[in-house]
Amino acid sequence: MFLDNLSLENFKNYAGSSFSFSPKLNFIYGENGNGKTNILEAISMLCYTRSFLLTSDNDCVKYGSSAFSIKGEFTSGINVNSVLKYTYNKEAASKSLFYGNEKVTRLNEFIGSFPLIVLSPGDLKLSMGTPLDKRRNFDLLISQVSRLYFDDLKSYTKIIKQKNSLLKENLVSRKYSSKDLKHMLSLWNDELVGFGIKILLRRLDFIEEFKTYQSECFNRIAGSSYIPIINYESDINIDPENLSIESLKNSYSELLNSKMDIEIRRGISLAGPHRDNYIFLMEKNGELFDVRTFASQGEHKTFVVSLKLAEFGFIKDNIVNSNIGDPILLLDDIFSELDRGRIRKISSIITGYNQVFLTTTDVEYMDILKEDFDEISAYNITKELTQFVN
Ligand SMILES: Nc1ncnc2c1ncn2[C@@H]1O[C@H](COP(=O)(O)OP(=O)(O)O)[C@@H](O)[C@H]1O
Ligand SMILES: [Mg+2]
Repeated sequence: MFLDNLSLENFKNYAGSSFSFSPKLNFIYGENGNGKTNILEAISMLCYTRSFLLTSDNDCVKYGSSAFSIKGEFTSGINVNSVLKYTYNKEAASKSLFYGNEKVTRLNEFIGSFPLIVLSPGDLKLSMGTPLDKRRNFDLLISQVSRLYFDDLKSYTKIIKQKNSLLKENLVSRKYSSKDLKHMLSLWNDELVGFGIKILLRRLDFIEEFKTYQSECFNRIAGSSYIPIINYESDINIDPENLSIESLKNSYSELLNSKMDIEIRRGISLAGPHRDNYIFLMEKNGELFDVRTFASQGEHKTFVVSLKLAEFGFIKDNIVNSNIGDPILLLDDIFSELDRGRIRKISSIITGYNQVFLTTTDVEYMDILKEDFDEISAYNITKELTQFVN
């Protein structure tokens, strides 16, 4: 899959600009604050239906304007042209995404149709990040290859919200007897167990499968002395020898029962996949160590870069529909955070990937990339560029 053309209207600092992109490497350079990241953000909004930086739609409307639009023309793996259009109107607070002439209303049918991987300075901190940051990263990744997972996650989240509002309501009004409250909670808990276990099993499968992809990228960047490992941390008792649905359901039910009193006291759901964590580890000479506590700055970065670059192979091999084509890769200003050796390795890896968009303030990085890329399309983003209306 390739993005051929992008048009922005009243999107952030772009009054009206159009870009034609190359199917290989698009090297976007310019001074800070000129609008490089904004271009990548617009691409992510088309592919993910939201900004990779989680910017609100309101904040994307150009100062003084009332609406923005982003239009992207894509070519997919089998030469099918598709147009995606994302529009937002501030007054009506209405957002629409059009796939061709059809308005996208069911996200589960859309997600993964335009697969995308983003690596930004924020992602480089993932190994220091919160459980939420990590769950968000992997939920988005798994959802791009599994609509079932996306659906289960959505159902699960909805039940958690309903259960939380019951718990909160009880804290405020105490209008239920303890017996009635516990009965209602156990009904929600039964539903949580069904969806929660499906999510849990998919995540465990994912970790197992992802290991090979990440190890390969890690080795290519750092040599082979370490093996990156991701462990899943949950209050649900997971016996790796017995991952049957029945035994996991029992463990999860027991946990929910044991937490019921404290959940009532605190007014919030405390156990399940929405609280779980991914632990990043490295193995050296048979010994495991926690990246968060023991890794050097450089090891942190190698861990995360290898993780993000591994997402390419994982999506490519697991894509829902083989006609979609390979994911697009966005690298937002990450070179300034890395040493030359790592940049060289990254360049040699991504040259085998699909379409790449890279932003930087330093045009000299082009020389490193030239060693791996025969052709580079360069875009100089200047203040003037963003002011013209086409
Ligand atoms: N809603 C908006 N309207 C107009 N300009 C905006 C809006 N949001 C952000 N900007 C401008 O966009 C610029 C930042 O763009 P960005 O893509 O982050 O720059 P960089 O080239 O450093 O990546 C800033 O100058 C900021 O003022
Ligand atoms: Mg930027």
